[in-house]
Amino acid sequence: MPGLTTTTTHHLAPSISTSASLTATHVLNLLSTYGADDDDDCATSSSNSSSSDSVSQIAHSLQTAHFAAKETSDPETLVAALLHDIGQFIPMAELTELAMEVKDADGNLARIGHETLGAEYLHRLGFSGKVCALVAAHVPAKRFLCKVDRGYYAGLSAASRKSLSEQGGPMSEREVDEWKRSGWWEDKVRLRRCDDRAKVVGLAVDGVQAYRGVLEAHLRAQGLGD
Ligand SMILES: [Fe+2]
Repeated sequence: MPGLTTTTTHHLAPSISTSASLTATHVLNLLSTYGADDDDDCATSSSNSSSSDSVSQIAHSLQTAHFAAKETSDPETLVAALLHDIGQFIPMAELTELAMEVKDADGNLARIGHETLGAEYLHRLGFSGKVCALVAAHVPAKRFLCKVDRGYYAGLSAASRKSLSEQGGPMSEREVDEWKRSGWWEDKVRLRRCDDRAKVVGLAVDGVQAYRGVLEAHLRAQGLGD
C-alpha cells in the first residue's frame, strides 16, 4: 500500500486465505458481528430529514453497498462500498498483528487511519488492488470533494468539519491534480458519495448474505480457490 511499510507479506488469516467462500464468510461475519456499533465516521448532515448519523455500522455498510449498486455495475466498487469501513472492526487479535506490521513512512502507528488498516487487511485477504485502493481513498475523497464541491463542504456536519481539519483539510490544487491522475478516482468519489448518503435510519436494504456471490466471484477472479 502506498506510504506504508510492512515487515512481512503473509496473510493475517492463513486458514482462510486460499478459499474464496471461507474468506467471504469471514468478512461477512465481521460485518455482522462487529458492525453493530453506531457509525461515528465520515458523517455529513443531509437535507433528507430521515437521515441520521446514528445508524449502526452494519446498517451503514449495507446502505453504502445499496447505493453503490444503484450508481454502478462495477463489482469492485460494490465490494469496496460494502467493506469500506472494515478497518473499524478488525478483530483485536488480527488488528494487533496488523498494527505491528504496518507503519507509515515515519514508522508511526498512531497516525494510521481505519481506511488504511482496512485496505491493508483486505489486501492480505486477497482482495484486488482496486478494491483496496477504493477503501483506502474513502477518507481522502472527502478532502477532494471539499475542495471541488462547495455544496459538499456546506453540507458537512460540525463533527465532520472538525474531523476534516484533522484529516488535513480540503485538498490543495496540486493534490487535486494528483488525485485526478490516480487510478479509479471517479469510482473513489462515487463510493464516498454513497458513504455519505448511507445514514438513513430504518432504510430497508439487502442483508449481508446478498453480497456473498459478488464477494466469492471477486475473490475467485483474484486467484482464490473454492
Ligand atoms: Fe463509512
